[in-house]
Formats: sequence, structure tokens, C-alpha cells
Amino acid sequence: PRKIFSGIQPTGSVHLGNYLGAIRKWTQLQNSRDDVTVCIVDMHSITMPHNPPVLRENIFTMAATLLACGVDPAKSTLFVQSSVLEHCEFNWILSSMTTTPRLAQLPQFKEKSRLVRDIPLGLYVYPVLQAADIMLYKATHVPVGADQLQHIQLAQHLARTFNGRYGELFPVCHAMIEEGDASRVLSLRDPSKKMSKSEANPKATINLCDAPELIMEKIKKAITDFTSDITYNPDSRPGVSNLVNIHAQVTGQTIQSVLDEAKTLDTAKYKERVADAVIEHLRPIRERVQEQLSNKNELIYMLEMGAEKARSQAQQTMRDVKQRLGLGTYA
Ligand code: TYM
Repeated sequence: PRKIFSGIQPTGSVHLGNYLGAIRKWTQLQNSRDDVTVCIVDMHSITMPHNPPVLRENIFTMAATLLACGVDPAKSTLFVQSSVLEHCEFNWILSSMTTTPRLAQLPQFKEKSRLVRDIPLGLYVYPVLQAADIMLYKATHVPVGADQLQHIQLAQHLARTFNGRYGELFPVCHAMIEEGDASRVLSLRDPSKKMSKSEANPKATINLCDAPELIMEKIKKAITDFTSDITYNPDSRPGVSNLVNIHAQVTGQTIQSVLDEAKTLDTAKYKERVADAVIEHLRPIRERVQEQLSNKNELIYMLEMGAEKARSQAQQTMRDVKQRLGLGTYA
């Protein structure tokens, strides 16, 4: 049976890239009866400078947003990472099985370490904690966007290393990365980059809770090029192709049928068409987020139930791990 695990940082708002690249996939998997675990990775979020009250708020907003997107706690396990202590315990053990050059060459580390003057050790170890997340639940499949591939490869490497040294215990997980472009939604301001939470320009990302007028404005101002007809060629026309991709994703159409419909439109008219489709798709999600947030006690209870389910799996794994490593006082 497939064991699905994925995580998301409670940093800033959830954007269209997170949604199309990852969250939507989780809900589909959960509804196909796979065993799905989704983790709000707050421990990962403190590897960059952060504001405590904002982080706490973001955790609730993230939980509400995931529910609004269709993650169903009756079918999936949804919890906050810091509620399950084993993540950090296992992180330490896996750190002792990783070399520093391997971590230094990971692209997300290189990108983020440029943004701070003194590099926190946590930022460096970040992908090891991510491997711990995945391995604690013995995940076989990890649905993520394309930007996470190198991190999943580290988790695969650590599973193999562990199995080689201490005997078979962990499956080597597969990265489930959507074929085509759902796995890489691009910035509206610079289509050579992915849509990202750490992007400084707010016009570059569409957040799931943006008001309709704001979505319209952002898409109208999206950077395209000087050709006015609508074609799909991610290499030579990344801006327009990104809009075509987003359009196809939110309407459930193929790229070709989106193009057929857009034959008579120029870029300006087409942008309005795309914005309308995005607004329609996000409207019910945005409403449900507000609903969920209005009952914080219920959210807290739901997350605690999720943590309890997660904890019992994590504790079992850690017992086996410590046994294999000769840690502690087992007879
Ligand atoms: P995070 O919080 O940055 O993003 C959550 C998910 O959204 C995907 N994503 C995108 N997909 C398509 N286009 C984009 N522009 C785009 N931007 C983000 C990400 O690939 C991700 O799947 N390190 C992880 C969190 C994590 C994790 C884990 C993931 C921690 N432990 C264990 C999987 C398994 C991260 O920062 O995701």
C-alpha cells in the first residue's frame, strides 16, 4: 500500500504554486483512499528570521487553508510538526549520517543563505529535518512541486544509507512530481523564476485568499512579451505559457483546448479570461478559509487529534531506530 507524506511551511500565505503544485494533489490522493499524512512544518519555518505572533497566526491560517482546499482530517492525518517531538530527535540521528558538502550544494540552501548575512545552522540542516519528516512515517510517496526534488533525493540517500548500515527499515520514497507545468508555477513578475513565498514583490504571487479585484489586477499586470497571440511554449514564451498553464489547471482543461478557445483573443483580453477563471476557482476556497478560522478551538482540537495519530507512528519508528543504532538502555 502507498504511504503518502508531504509538508508545507506556515510562512506567509498559500499561493497558487503551492496549491496547484502540491495541495491539490494531496486531496486527490486522500480521496483515492491512499494513506495521506500532511504536516505543517513550523520547525522548518524558524530557520529564517521570523516573528513569533505572526508564525502562530500563520499556523492556524495554514490549517484553515488546507481544510478549505479539501484536506479532510477524517481521511488524512493533518498535524503541526513541533507537536511531535520525534521529528527533532530523528533529525539529530540523521545529521550524523549526512556529510556537510552534500548539504552545502543543495539549491534551496544556496538561494536562502544569500538572503541572510550570518547563515543559521538550522538553514543548513533543513533538508535533514525534511528527510526525518518523511522517514518517520515510512513514506513511500512524497507529492511535491519540482523545487523539492533535491530534498527528496537526500531523503532517498539517507534511507539507503540507514538500511545499508543498520539493516532494512525504510522504504526509499518516490518524489511524485506532476508531469508538465503544474509542478512549477512561475512568478507573474519574472517568469524565469518560480512563484515563491519569499518573493518580495506582492504582485508576483496569487494568494488563495486574495480578493477578486486584486487577482484581476495582478494577472492583468503579469509580465508577458510583445507577441499578442496566445501560444504555449514554456521555453521561448514563459510568461504567456505560465498563464495558459494556470488557466488549464484551474478549469481542468487540456493546454490544447485552452489554446483553441483563446484563438481570437489578444494577450490583454486573454489575461481577463484567465483572471476570471482563477477567481471562480478560488472563490469557494476563500470563503471556507474564513469559516474555518472563525472556530479556532475546533482547529486546535483537530490538529491535536492529528498529532496524536502521527505521534504513535513516529514513536514506533524511533523505537526501532534506537534499537538498531544501539542507543539507550534496551535489553
Ligand atoms: P513549501 O512550504 O515551500 O511549499 C509547499 C509545496 O508547494 C510546492 N510549491 C510549488 N509547486 C509548484 N509551483 C511553485 N511555484 C511552487 N512553490 C512551492 C512545493 O514544492 C511544496 O511541495 N521543504 C518543503 C516543506 C517540507 C516537506 C517535508 C515537503 C518539509 N518537510 C517533507 C515534503 C516532505 C517546503 O519548503 O515547501
